[in-house]
Amino acid sequence: MKSPAWPAGSVSVQPGPENLIRKARNPFWLAPMAGITDLCFRQLMDQLGAGVLISELVSAKGLLHGSEKTHRMIRMHPQRGTLVGIQLFGESAEDLIEAGHVVARAGADFIDINLGCPVKKVVKKGCGAALMRDPVYLESYLTRIRKGVPLPLTVKMRTGWSDQELTIHECVQAAEQAGCEWVAVHGRTRAQGYEGKADWNLIREVRRRARIPIIGNGDLRDPMRAHLRLEETGVDAVMIGRGALRNPWIFRECTGGQGEGPLGRFHLLAGYHQLLREQSDARQTLILLRKMAVWLAYGFTGAAGFRGGIFKLPTASAVLDHAGEFFQSVAHLPPPRFEETEAFMMGGHG
Ligand SMILES: Cc1cc2nc3c(=O)[nH]c(=O)nc-3n(C[C@H](O)[C@H](O)[C@H](O)COP(=O)(O)O)c2cc1C
Repeated sequence: MKSPAWPAGSVSVQPGPENLIRKARNPFWLAPMAGITDLCFRQLMDQLGAGVLISELVSAKGLLHGSEKTHRMIRMHPQRGTLVGIQLFGESAEDLIEAGHVVARAGADFIDINLGCPVKKVVKKGCGAALMRDPVYLESYLTRIRKGVPLPLTVKMRTGWSDQELTIHECVQAAEQAGCEWVAVHGRTRAQGYEGKADWNLIREVRRRARIPIIGNGDLRDPMRAHLRLEETGVDAVMIGRGALRNPWIFRECTGGQGEGPLGRFHLLAGYHQLLREQSDARQTLILLRKMAVWLAYGFTGAAGFRGGIFKLPTASAVLDHAGEFFQSVAHLPPPRFEETEAFMMGGHG
C-alpha cells in the first residue's frame, strides 16, 4: 500500500486495513515513549505537526483497577489535529478488551498493542517482546482483542527476540490475519536493547512482503534521514522517538517547515510550561519541565553545567529563568547535530 492521501485529522473511521492510516496528517509520526509521550507532550507535538501521536505504554490492569495515575495517561488533548492512539500492554486478551472499552470512552482513535518492550518485568509476564516468540499464539491473541475492542487495532513490535529468533515476518503475518490496521517495526531485536543500529534492510524486506501498512522506526534523527528511509524502504510512514526530544521541530521540518534556534527553544519550553500548568500538579510540572529543558539544551556548549544546575532548582519558574539565561548565552550558535551513532537514552519500553 503506497501513496495514501494525507488529509488533516480526524477520526471516526471504520476498522479495516488501509482505512485508519488515511486519516494520518502526514507520514512522520511520534513514537510512543514511556514517561514522555503523555497528554502535554502529545499536544505539543500535535501543534508541531507530528503525523500521528501515540501514548506511552499503559497497563491494561492499571486501567481496570481504577488507578488514577493510569487513567491520567489516556486523557485526550483538546483540538486534536490528527489521530491519537493509546498503547496498551497486558497479559490476558480479556484484560486488553476491557481496557480497550475504557480507552474508547476516553476518545482515542485507535488502540496500539506493545509487542516490543524488552524490559524484564514486562517480558517475564509474557507481555511486550515475549509475545513475538510464539507467532501462532500471537495471532489468536490479537484476533481475540481485535474482535473485542470497539476501536481499530494496531501493533508495534521489534524484529524478534534475538538474531536467532527473527520472527518479524511471521508476527507481521499474525497481525495481518488478526485484522490489525498497521504494524510499526522498531528495527532491533529484544536482545539488542538499544545497542547497534536499527536494521532498515530488514524493515524494507518486511514492507516488501507485508499486505498491510508498515511503519518503520529506529534512529531517525534529522528530516533528511527520515525522508531517505521513507523513500528507500517504501514504508508507509516512519516513527520518530528520541529525535523529537532533541529537536521537537523535526516533524515540521519533515513536512517542509522550519526549525528554530536557541531562543526558539526557550519559547517552546515556556509554552510547554503553560500546558503542564493546566494539566499537572506542581511536582509533576517541575519534573517534566526539567526533563524537557535538558533535552533541548543537549549538545550545546555548557549543557552539562546547565543540567547539573537545573536539578537543584526547586520551582518551575526558577527552571525557566535558568533556561532563559542558558539559551540566551548560546543564542549565536546553530542547533547541535544529533549524529546517528550517538548514544542517547539507551533504554525504553519498545
Ligand atoms: C525513554 C523511552 C521510552 C520508550 N517507551 C516506549 C513505550 O512505552 N512503548 C513503545 O512501544 N516503545 C517505547 N520506546 C521505543 C520507541 O518508541 C522507539 O521504538 C525507539 O526509541 C527507537 O526509535 P528512535 O530511535 O526514533 O528513538 C521508548 C523509547 C525510549 C527511548
